[in-house]
Amino acid sequence: MSPAQNDDRLRIRAAVADDAPELARLVGIAGGGVYEFLLDGLMPGMTAVEILVPGLAGRSGSLSYRQSGVAELDGRVVGIAHGYPTDWIRMEDYSGLPPDRVAHMGEFSETLDWGSYFLSALAVDPDLRRRGIAGQLLGWFYERARTGGFDRVTLHVWADNEPARHLYAGEGFEEIGRAAIPWHPRLPHQGGSILMRRYL
Ligand SMILES: CC(C)(COP(=O)(O)OP(=O)(O)OC[C@H]1O[C@@H](n2cnc3c(N)ncnc32)[C@H](O)[C@@H]1OP(=O)(O)O)[C@@H](O)C(=O)NCCC(=O)NCCS
Repeated sequence: MSPAQNDDRLRIRAAVADDAPELARLVGIAGGGVYEFLLDGLMPGMTAVEILVPGLAGRSGSLSYRQSGVAELDGRVVGIAHGYPTDWIRMEDYSGLPPDRVAHMGEFSETLDWGSYFLSALAVDPDLRRRGIAGQLLGWFYERARTGGFDRVTLHVWADNEPARHLYAGEGFEEIGRAAIPWHPRLPHQGGSILMRRYL
């Protein structure tokens, strides 16, 4: 049994609107720089994470807190799993973002498994890693996908994100595609982004 499973101070629960600032912080960590790449400088005086907060506090859309589960330890939000049906991505409106940034990420939206349930963010606070918290968040997420009638979960992981790739391999995810997102000084990942799938 992992320490998190053994820790009755840890609770996995659906997020609420008041969690939005913590959700934004953790979504930012999960993105590995992509939100800063897309959003930095768009709203003067606001960081990318701050720009995410209103969307996360809202009730509708793929960014809403209603798509998040959180890990709470002693009343503090320390982890997130956020996701929604992949097909919602077809309806995303990127017209408010700089076209060159959207174009840079273009292969991401073309490398998806339509019909699956998509894990768009998973993160745990750095001081609480390797205690099984991500594993518990994934368990919550699989159950949510099953309840929604989905037979599989997919996700994107940066090819150079070794910790996350270990985690997903151990959970039984398999690589089914790769988005050739080029290296960029503001998004310095090597090897692009890998699409992974796990049947439920
Ligand atoms: C990836 C991440 C969510 C893992 O969270 P976590 O709570 O530490 O993960 P767990 O404790 O549940 O790990 C479960 C298993 O995953 C693997 N794993 C997790 N972190 C690992 C690491 N740094 N190195 C190697 N394997 C790792 C191990 O097999 C681990 O089991 P073990 O500890 O018994 O060996 C966390 O490192 C994180 O938030 N990273 C930054 C954000 C991120 O990259 N998110 C994923 C985006 S796709």
